[in-house]
Amino acid sequence: MERTFAMIKPDGVRRGLTPEILARIARKGYRVVGLKQMVIPRDVAETHYGEHRERPFFGELVDFITGGPVVAIALEGENAISGWRGMMGATNPANAAPGTIRADFATTTGENVTHGSDSPESAQRELGLFFAAGELLD
Ligand code: PPS
Repeated sequence: MERTFAMIKPDGVRRGLTPEILARIARKGYRVVGLKQMVIPRDVAETHYGEHRERPFFGELVDFITGGPVVAIALEGENAISGWRGMMGATNPANAAPGTIRADFATTTGENVTHGSDSPESAQRELGLFFAAGELLD
């Protein structure tokens, strides 16, 4: 069993896609062990995307991710890290496989509806950033 951090980004929440995305997670069979809607504080967003600090779009990315409520989700399941990224599809929706969330619902790399940790190390770090230990189910 593996845990990963998933997020419905502000564009997804604003467009009312939360139920659709949670339904896909349920149909896949992942267990939701943490879930909350929140507005991300700026310092948390800058930490979350810290590895992209030097990239030209960093300011835009932080503005976007803090610009409205997100849904933070802790997922558990077999190979949940790569499995959830597979369900999301490629970062650039133009390259996302048909049937993935980004292919179905997004058109731009900046506003691509969902986020998912890319490695076990990122998953641990991001889960710790968004959830206190007591907020996650055993
Ligand atoms: S990846 O999957 O990490 O290799 O993708 P990458 O291209 O490095 O992008 C990392 C995150 O930055 C977001 N992004 C952008 N935001 C705003 N504007 C532009 N131009 C842009 N390009 C990339 C992208 O959605 C990734 O967000 P996350 O939340 O990690 O999916």
